[in-house]
Amino acid sequence: MDAMTALHTRVSSPRLVEPAPTPEHREAIFKAALRAPDHAALRTWRFLCVEGEGRLELGEKMVAAALRQDPALSEAMQTRRLNSPQRAPLVIVAVVRLREHPKVPAIEQWLSVGAATSNMLLAAHALGYGAMWRSGSLSYDRSFMTDIGLQAEEHIVGFLYMGSVASALKSPAEHVVSDYFSPWPAAT
Ligand SMILES: Cc1cc2nc3c(=O)[nH]c(=O)nc-3n(C[C@H](O)[C@H](O)[C@H](O)COP(=O)(O)O)c2cc1C
Repeated sequence: MDAMTALHTRVSSPRLVEPAPTPEHREAIFKAALRAPDHAALRTWRFLCVEGEGRLELGEKMVAAALRQDPALSEAMQTRRLNSPQRAPLVIVAVVRLREHPKVPAIEQWLSVGAATSNMLLAAHALGYGAMWRSGSLSYDRSFMTDIGLQAEEHIVGFLYMGSVASALKSPAEHVVSDYFSPWPAAT
């Protein structure tokens, strides 16, 4: 798929199945992440690739953290949490490792990892895979981050679910460019 088609047709796929991207495709998708704009080349990103049994362990840690947030969490919600990493054969946790820099504030470091994550969504789509960027309250839960091995200066930017699409892709929403883009200064 050419780049403009990929950019114009990418949609999220909530239900993803095996197979996950092949090693060759994975390499291409991950390389796309590493081409994201990155002020001062800080390389503040790292990505945890969770698959197979690892998804079960991730689900267990999600349940434990969710119970710390809400000890009265229902059995149904616990099961939902436990199974959430099973929604795709590959779950990539995008992490920003913030550092002090005189010219690159934290927000730019977050944005850079966001751009890297977006590049992966697009690259996966261009190669015929499905993907979806998710977050949720655990993305901001420090005890959960510690549980999965993040350091104090590290934060979760998102969970990128990736695999093969289970059913037909939805149609991309149509947008009117002029709703969002306007000349500046405005004509008087
Ligand atoms: C930072 C970020 C976090 C998101 N978190 C969630 C989420 O937790 N759950 C969800 O359903 N969609 C989430 N989304 C939105 C989806 O990834 C997706 O963009 C949205 O459903 C629109 O679908 P589309 O990508 O096909 O246009 C998130 C998007 C971003 C950028």
